[in-house]
Amino acid sequence: MPGWQVPAGGIDVPGLVVDADVLERNLRAMAGSAARRGLALRPHVKTHKSLAVARRQRDLGAVGLSVATVSEAEVFADGGFDDLFIAYPVWAGGDRGARLARLARRARLSVGVDCLAAVAALAAAVGPAAPVSVLVEVDCGLRRSGVPPAAAGPLAVAAARAGLAVAGVFTFPGHSYAPGAAAGAAADEAAALTAAAASLAAAGLPCPVRSGGSTPTAALTQAGPVTELRPGVYAFNDAQQVTLGSCGPADVALAAAATVVSAGPGRFVLDAGSKVLGPDRPGWAPGHGLLPGFPGWQVSGLWEHHAVATMTGGGPPQVGEQVMVIPNHVCTAVNLAGHLDVVRDGRRIDRWPVSARGRNL
Ligand SMILES: Cc1ncc(COP(=O)(O)O)c(C=O)c1O
Repeated sequence: MPGWQVPAGGIDVPGLVVDADVLERNLRAMAGSAARRGLALRPHVKTHKSLAVARRQRDLGAVGLSVATVSEAEVFADGGFDDLFIAYPVWAGGDRGARLARLARRARLSVGVDCLAAVAALAAAVGPAAPVSVLVEVDCGLRRSGVPPAAAGPLAVAAARAGLAVAGVFTFPGHSYAPGAAAGAAADEAAALTAAAASLAAAGLPCPVRSGGSTPTAALTQAGPVTELRPGVYAFNDAQQVTLGSCGPADVALAAAATVVSAGPGRFVLDAGSKVLGPDRPGWAPGHGLLPGFPGWQVSGLWEHHAVATMTGGGPPQVGEQVMVIPNHVCTAVNLAGHLDVVRDGRRIDRWPVSARGRNL
């Protein structure tokens, strides 16, 4: 974002602003880097929830999209995307089974599974006529969902016996989200996917898809153990990625425009709180976001409608001035926004709806 100035006119303040040129550079860089390594790119669209960004990812060679929820899959299928992976251990209860079956009739659909009960529920819900395939989720160190790699084969066999096509295995190396942790997490990802594929082979099943990826590890993943990458945040980047060193401030394509509503010695208050910036603040983050236009200032406090910036002894901006804030975690910020104002050279050139806003069920 040139100079981190709030673009002139035509944008919502507070609101989220996307720099079209930085976004394009980020999309091209990841597409090129995955292609050069022989890795398929299946970007996670929970970051942008935007058909416009997903179309550009597809134009640049993405093999399909990763989504987090059935309702995100529905939005992108409605938008014409025909290869969707729900990278989540979906529970096919309630109306979700029928919705998955409908999705599978209009897109190549794969779904994450990590237990026998979910396999049985999915198979019963979609029935033999719906060609849903599954990827067994393995845990490579995050300790969230996923089975140990050695248990992937038996679960895959159960899925195949239940009538589901097994496409392979996936993992999320999310323990990369700590300072200095990316290389170890990438190594864990490769080891877990290799062991999981061996477990399927021992059970007599092929494992063509070995899907991994997070933004902090994306540059470190080697083809072979991994066949497919699913980074999401890289499209926009955010304060977490800057702090972790996965990108520099110049690679951040999205920031919140906000107005100074109160100021005093060493402090000022912005009208972008957690309902604009999102609530996330990991223990290692220096604050609730970054203020690249105000070196030395920290976003030290966050409420629903207020962000407080502090600095020892520094002169604050004037009340009424507008400033740009980089959210800590861009996915949670975008999920709150109705649209994104797209700018080039400080002027608004477009307004993209957040098409899958709130589609989290
Ligand atoms: C299962 C899964 N895959 C891929 C991603 C994308 O990784 P990142 O957010 O680091 O870009 C996430 C992020 O939470 C995830 O949970």
